[in-house]
Amino acid sequence: MFEVQAYSGSKQESYEQLLKQLDSLLEGEDSVVANLANASALLNQFLDQVNWVGFYTMDNGELVLGPFQGLPACVKIPNGKGVCGTATEKRATQLVPDVHQFPGHIACDAQSQSEIVVPIIQNEEIFGVLDIDAPVKERFDETDRHYLEQFVETLKKHL
Ligand code: SME
Repeated sequence: MFEVQAYSGSKQESYEQLLKQLDSLLEGEDSVVANLANASALLNQFLDQVNWVGFYTMDNGELVLGPFQGLPACVKIPNGKGVCGTATEKRATQLVPDVHQFPGHIACDAQSQSEIVVPIIQNEEIFGVLDIDAPVKERFDETDRHYLEQFVETLKKHL
């Protein structure tokens, strides 16, 4: 049974605990869907002030909705479209302080005010993205970017 952990210390220390927790949670499991589902659930209970946490995976050149926590969302996102498609096209994390200022942002949940999308790249190929939405502006900072990129690096060992 999953034990809810009390994260302690600084934001950095809490994220370090989260990374270890992710690694042990996914250890020995080779189901990609199960691992993405548990990774989204783990992140959702770790992060405060978020309204959507989940994955899109690349399928025939477009991003398709994968395991997530939150309201039902758009199913397909073409490469280059929205924040997610921009992250895959540019192969770079997109940290968006205000989604209303991001040209082409795709609104799946009207609550969303800020967003971070981390591309998941394996052997030079785009596997998909980690997408997190927040109901407040400027929810994510450079510490979040650093550790969410580390979160994706740890997750990749289990995909
Ligand atoms: N806002 C995203 C779409 C996905 S939802 O946030 C879950 C985008 O612009 O790509």
